[in-house]
Amino acid sequence: MKRVLLTGGSRGIGKAIFEELKNNYEVIAPTREQLNLSSLKSIETYFESDKKIDILINSAGINIIKDIESILDNDIEKINQINLIAPLKLIQKVIPNMKKNNFGKIINISSIWGVKSKEKRTLYSGTKFGIIGQTKALSKELGEYNILVNAVCPGFTATDLTMQSLSETELLDIQNQIPLKRLAKPREIAKAIKFLISDDNSYITGQTLIIDGGFTS
Ligand SMILES: NC(=O)c1ccc[n+]([C@@H]2O[C@H](COP(=O)([O-])OP(=O)(O)OC[C@H]3O[C@@H](n4cnc5c(N)ncnc54)[C@H](OP(=O)(O)O)[C@@H]3O)[C@@H](O)[C@H]2O)c1
Repeated sequence: MKRVLLTGGSRGIGKAIFEELKNNYEVIAPTREQLNLSSLKSIETYFESDKKIDILINSAGINIIKDIESILDNDIEKINQINLIAPLKLIQKVIPNMKKNNFGKIINISSIWGVKSKEKRTLYSGTKFGIIGQTKALSKELGEYNILVNAVCPGFTATDLTMQSLSETELLDIQNQIPLKRLAKPREIAKAIKFLISDDNSYITGQTLIIDGGFTS
């Protein structure tokens, strides 16, 4: 069984990824207590014990929605650390084993707000566009080691958090803007990731897969 390191596996899309993969892979999904992505020290400590990872899925992420004048220094630091710096640090940690095996798959979860944007998304889009940049650069650098690096961009996804935070009117408004007239199920995002990390994908790398029911089309 190939070994997958999955961040953000406790809830939402990450949890759906865990459920989708658990029968065919050895999935390691550390809790925040085991691996706190806000802390570089925690990342260092986590990798002190030997971890041979074949597949890395960077799913954990946060969103801070604020107009430019309300953004605090701490917001800038926090969202960039969790959404952009931590995934990069994890990639650095898993690469040596992947290179040694001449095999690796890396998935970075971006967002539709990583390919287009809207008001008050300066922080979030900054990180989600950024991780696509990292994905593309790494695919060039790591291709010769058969390490495939892709970004997945979910659209509006019906996680518990999304459903709790939207009013009925807001939900209807969003659904009306989506050609498929509904939100994505977390499982629909997980299934695409399952394909990208599978042996069936041996040639897709450096790509940005948008799964949004046609919203950005
Ligand atoms: N839901 C959507 O509609 C949507 C759309 C586009 C893109 N996305 C992206 O998809 C990914 C998953 O989103 P989601 O909505 O499913 O997330 P979610 O339900 O809000 O869960 C976030 C996950 O990230 C983990 N996390 C947050 N901060 C962390 C930290 N400092 N250290 C370790 N883990 C941390 C959480 O762990 P805890 O349980 O410990 O808090 C949780 O497992 C994110 O990158 C998000 O930006 C989501």
